[in-house]
Amino acid sequence: MTSSTLEHCFQALDALSEEFQIEQIERPGFAGIFSCMHAKSGLEAILSLHDLTLGPALGGVRCYPYSSQNEALSDVMNLSRAMTHKAAASGLPIGGGKSVLCAESSKLSSTALRAFGRFIDAFSGQYIAAKDVGIGISELQEIRKATEYVAGWSRDIGGPSKFTAWGVVAGIEVSLEQVFGSSSCKGKTIAIQGLGGVGMALAEFLFWKGAQLIVSDTDPQKARFCAERFSAQVVSKDALLFVPCDVLSPCALGGVLFEENIGSVRAKIVAGGANNILASPQVADEMDKRGILYAPDYIINAGGLIRLVTEKLAGVNDPLQGKCRVEEIASTLRSIYDVARVQKISTMAAADLLVAERLRQGRASNAH
Ligand code: NAI
Repeated sequence: MTSSTLEHCFQALDALSEEFQIEQIERPGFAGIFSCMHAKSGLEAILSLHDLTLGPALGGVRCYPYSSQNEALSDVMNLSRAMTHKAAASGLPIGGGKSVLCAESSKLSSTALRAFGRFIDAFSGQYIAAKDVGIGISELQEIRKATEYVAGWSRDIGGPSKFTAWGVVAGIEVSLEQVFGSSSCKGKTIAIQGLGGVGMALAEFLFWKGAQLIVSDTDPQKARFCAERFSAQVVSKDALLFVPCDVLSPCALGGVLFEENIGSVRAKIVAGGANNILASPQVADEMDKRGILYAPDYIINAGGLIRLVTEKLAGVNDPLQGKCRVEEIASTLRSIYDVARVQKISTMAAADLLVAERLRQGRASNAH
């Protein structure tokens, strides 16, 4: 599939023009970016389709009170690019896309969610929406009233977050094996930033595996819950990134590690569920120099996506198959660590090489 696939969607977008203000934002390297305003419901959204080489894009909807359209645009572009990487590295037949709703999630109305559903419906399945920060199953169900192109909406099946957390556990274990010679979490200190769908499930899995947890969340109730249930030590959100620990696991928002703060990180391993943990690729090089092992985020946080795609492709709910596929993250990560060691490049650069190769193969097979 190529970006020309989107030409078929323009007629459907035109049909919305009486009610919606939709504009295409041109950016090199992206299949298509569209901003969408719906005055009646107050919806302000941006959809970014990064790459459709391997198939239609499946990616979460993030709801966040961005301070400007530029901030939202930069976030959605980075997130959609990460989805391309995640899908390609996991060997999934899908492309990379993501959308953002510019709003406080508590103030998001059901009319705005349904309007968003109508907007994405115009893409006839080239974009399939799923959960991300600020969007839960109830919101997905509201979007689904206006479009069939939604994944992970069923309460019976459950959202993807636990599968994501399970993949992060696999990533942490492989990383422990590299650094300490054993994959066991027993007695290891693991600091988790953010206790939402992913972070809380991760805390529970790691508790049962014997890790000692240090946690923070901007919501003190979640942190308290984690302390009571999993004997976690609670620290402030500003302190969490810099506590001495074996593994630092950012599971809130992205861009938390940058060139100015990486020198203060006292973890031996960084392995988290958040998308785009590093503000730039240079941070990966800096971590390499400082002897901090980085498990590339889009490799180890692919569990939820793997689960959604496995379910969608099979057409039936098969959690066991999803779990087994998620556990393959361990072997993918191990081979990335091997390539990084042999080629003397950062683990991030090694992961990017794998993605580039998968996209090259996809383009070659599309050309035939
Ligand atoms: P969520 O919205 O359920 O949880 C985020 C949590 O982080 C909330 O509890 C929030 O209070 C907390 N938080 C926000 N800022 C914080 C800060 N500065 N310090 C400490 N806590 C903070 O989101 P979810 O679904 O758990 O996703 C977390 C991250 O994982 C996001 O970056 C998301 O893009 C990424 N991700 C999620 C997947 C999923 O399956 N849910 C899949 C792949 C990536």
